[in-house]
Amino acid sequence: MLFELEWMGGTAERLFQAHRGDGIDVIPWDIVGVGLSDVERDRLRTVWTQSSHQEWCAAGAFSALLTALLEARAPVDLVGMAGRFVADEMVHVELTARMANAYGGGVPLEVEPHARPVDDGFDDAVERACALAVRVSCVGESFSLPLIASELARSTDPVTRAVLARIAADEAPHATVGWLVLDWALPRLDARAVERLERVADDAVAALLPALRADPANGALYGHVLDTRIRRPLESRGVHLAPTGWPGNREEGGVRESTAG
Ligand SMILES: [Fe+2]
Ligand SMILES: [Fe+2]
Repeated sequence: MLFELEWMGGTAERLFQAHRGDGIDVIPWDIVGVGLSDVERDRLRTVWTQSSHQEWCAAGAFSALLTALLEARAPVDLVGMAGRFVADEMVHVELTARMANAYGGGVPLEVEPHARPVDDGFDDAVERACALAVRVSCVGESFSLPLIASELARSTDPVTRAVLARIAADEAPHATVGWLVLDWALPRLDARAVERLERVADDAVAALLPALRADPANGALYGHVLDTRIRRPLESRGVHLAPTGWPGNREEGGVRESTAG
């Protein structure tokens, strides 16, 4: 199906406004793309349409994580801190869609009808919450923040900077919640469940590698994120990632001790 967005307005918009704030409406959208060639505008329409769909999927991913946390009877404050993340991602959907519109409109984008993250098929709710926390937050969101920060540092366009700054401000807690879920849940998992979680982490990283390799300009940044924001925090919690073969990475988690009982 085609990725298309709808805006309801009225009461829905007014209540959403409490979350999104007024900063978005004061962005000078009409100066976007002034002086660009048609080819460059079309490239940016595509980039921002794809971003908008990724933000939509991020909302679906947090929705699944929240459901799993509730089913696992996670602590009230842990569920509560993540409750607003779906709305954050909807703000990002709006921002990125408005960028695409400002460059001339979204491009036709064929997408899966649902926006669900990978289902690892675990029956146990705590295990399911851990797997989603690793995929969505510890791995997925850990890449978002440094990437947005690097784009922000490179960008000179004031509208792009305003959009990226808003998104970046929301992303830090998105990348934190996964580690808090693991801190709460890992003591509840036995050794076999931890091994299954290691395979989930390997798979989550492997799923991202083709996209990371397709962006060699950020190769050093990706290696740094893999090492310092994913591998080491996982290892410090006793969850070992298989070597990824990323150039320049320390990959010290390569030797995996079997903890199966
Ligand atoms: Fe986002
Ligand atoms: Fe996010």
